[in-house]
Amino acid sequence: MAQQPLPVWAKPLLFILCALPLLNAAWRVYGGSVADPADYLTRETGWWALSLLLASLAVSPLVRVAHWPPLMRLRRMLGVYCFFYACVHLAIYLVLSGADPAIITDDIMKSPYIVVGFSVWLLLLPLAITSTDGWMRRLKRRWSRLHRLIYPAAGLAVLHFWWLTKSDLARPLAFALLLGLLLGWRVWRALHRPRSRS
Ligand code: HEM
Repeated sequence: MAQQPLPVWAKPLLFILCALPLLNAAWRVYGGSVADPADYLTRETGWWALSLLLASLAVSPLVRVAHWPPLMRLRRMLGVYCFFYACVHLAIYLVLSGADPAIITDDIMKSPYIVVGFSVWLLLLPLAITSTDGWMRRLKRRWSRLHRLIYPAAGLAVLHFWWLTKSDLARPLAFALLLGLLLGWRVWRALHRPRSRS
């Protein structure tokens, strides 16, 4: 049976859905309904960067469960939006610290989770740059190898969240469990994949 293609509206819809959290946050700040806008925006953008990262990792298991490969074509947008939210998150931090190296160094000394956050962003950077079809063609098999950086990035992003949470670890724990599930599924599949005869 021929595979149904991805409906034409799927990508535009996902584009709008992924932009909504930022628009909603900006609207709330503009409307004055947020007590501490800087803290609120930092947390919202961090939360969405992590959620979209895990959503992008959930696509291939979903494709297998739904037996619907066209879904895979939505993964890139989730990944690029994850990086976009991470950039806004970083930009807010830099604006708040006045991009002052002394303040940033002091922050790093006091809160090591900042270094972990920076590391995640640095790991995501080459993935975002090489997310185009052109880079995929140019790098060939090395593209998939490079994009395995998503796994340490996801682990460190959960660690970043865990580390900065002072009380009530329920949310970072939920992310850690979800990540464990998504990585566990990949390990299970790798172990049970039929070996090709050379
Ligand atoms: C680029 C460097 C980064 C810096 C400097 C940074 C810094 C921060 C800061 C200052 C906070 C707020 C902490 C608090 O209020 O106690 C925060 C929260 C957070 N960050 Fe980052 N971060 C970075 C990258 C990332 C990345 C790449 C991700 C995810 C992919 C991420 C996910 C989060 C999450 C989930 C939160 C908590 C949100 C919540 O409380 O709901 N951060 N980050």
